[in-house]
Amino acid sequence: MELKKVYEERRSINFFDKEKGLNDSLLREIIDRAVLAPSAFNLQPWEIIAVKTEEGKKKLYENGLSQAKVLEAPVTLLILGDRHGYGAENTSWLNTENEENRKKSQKMAEKLYGSTEEMKIKFAESNAGLLAMSIMYAAKDLGVDTHAMSGMDFKKIKEGLEIEGEKEVVMAISLGYLDNSKTLYERLKRKKYDEIVKEI
Ligand SMILES: Cc1cc2nc3c(=O)[nH]c(=O)nc-3n(C[C@H](O)[C@H](O)[C@H](O)COP(=O)(O)O)c2cc1C
Repeated sequence: MELKKVYEERRSINFFDKEKGLNDSLLREIIDRAVLAPSAFNLQPWEIIAVKTEEGKKKLYENGLSQAKVLEAPVTLLILGDRHGYGAENTSWLNTENEENRKKSQKMAEKLYGSTEEMKIKFAESNAGLLAMSIMYAAKDLGVDTHAMSGMDFKKIKEGLEIEGEKEVVMAISLGYLDNSKTLYERLKRKKYDEIVKEI
């Protein structure tokens, strides 16, 4: 799909076709493309929980994400951001082969992103947020509809799905296909350049 069309035609799909599954290889392709998103030091401090089974969907619905879409969509992805993803144990550091350079960068990252709790959250959410957007555009390009959600009880979800300490659920994205018997509301107005850009 032409990139301009991907931007213009991506919508948040409130109504998923319950009868239409999402092919496993298509889901893989979406994720494999989406991970080309940028991240600080290329650390990719993210993980994804793909909720595909009826049991998983029910668990998600009952543990904080009680939006019908979760039950109707074939797959819902929980996008996790790692608040400690700048740490030396992140295997992405091994991309920097020179040990001295790697250690220097690790020190810098620790100072930049590990200084306060606020910075850690910012690190996790900004990087995982870019992955999330990348997933939605990759999906649209491959003909798959999405819906991002953050209207949930994050604490309950974390506990209910036994997500470990430093990993934060940044948002959920349901994937599938629009139920064609439903009509989407018109796209809401966006703020334009002059309303949001301050030139200095
Ligand atoms: C981070 C984020 C969280 C959102 N949370 C919800 C949600 O919990 N429930 C919902 O129905 N829509 C949610 N939305 C969808 C927005 O309402 C939607 O993106 C917006 O109205 C613009 O519509 P469009 O995506 O169709 O262009 C969320 C979107 C984003 C990006």
